[in-house]
Amino acid sequence: MMKTMLTGFAVAASIAGCATVAGGSDYGKAALQMMKADFKTVGPANAERVFDQDEIERVCSDVGQTVAPAVSARLEAAQLASVVFPTDGKYLGDWKAGEAIAQNGRGLQSSDPVGSVNGGNCYACHQMTKAEISYGNIGPSLYNYGKLRGQSEAIVRYTWAKIYNAQAYHACSNMPRFGHKGILTQAQLRDVMALLLDPASPVNQ
Ligand code: HEC
Repeated sequence: MMKTMLTGFAVAASIAGCATVAGGSDYGKAALQMMKADFKTVGPANAERVFDQDEIERVCSDVGQTVAPAVSARLEAAQLASVVFPTDGKYLGDWKAGEAIAQNGRGLQSSDPVGSVNGGNCYACHQMTKAEISYGNIGPSLYNYGKLRGQSEAIVRYTWAKIYNAQAYHACSNMPRFGHKGILTQAQLRDVMALLLDPASPVNQ
């Protein structure tokens, strides 16, 4: 029985989205039900994060990068409209704290205590400083970001909004929506902003 179920799950997972198949079984629905039954909230890794998708998550899960231009434009505009900018106009914090946040990959995992401080894990996807040689390349290199872009109001606001909600500029971005999802606090966002834009930051050396 167990063996049959596992085989059924593998098939259902591979064709999920295909809806109804011959014989009338909705494997997509069955797979979802099975996942809902098995995937339980453990610590800060909550099941809602997986199952309660908002519209943009649903669209990106369904069609990924093939999302139609008109649809992605509408979704991006809605994400941008929901960005919360710092009310006091203070965008830059402490780059040293920002470097620690960029290096920290902990947070929201089942092994993390509830309420612990999350990291940004920026190095998992971006080169940032010359000193750190271990980094991923899913995202573009951010080395010299501030030196190349400067600190005009447009750049500062764009950078804040991009980190707050990457999908405001790329509907199905792989980058986490740090502010939108409450992964990083406003103070932490200021610190990673400083890491990117402060002329004294190692990003700009
Ligand atoms: C899972 C991978 C991933 C992580 C983690 C990640 N990013 Fe990104 N980031 C990307 C990708 C991919 C892009 C390219 C644009 C896009 O697809 O959204 C990007 C783009 C950017 C940009 C825009 C660059 C430009 O040239 O305009 C900034 C700024 C940025 N990321 C900052 C950060 C910061 C700061 C962190 C950590 C708090 C971070 N990213 C974490 C994947 C990631």
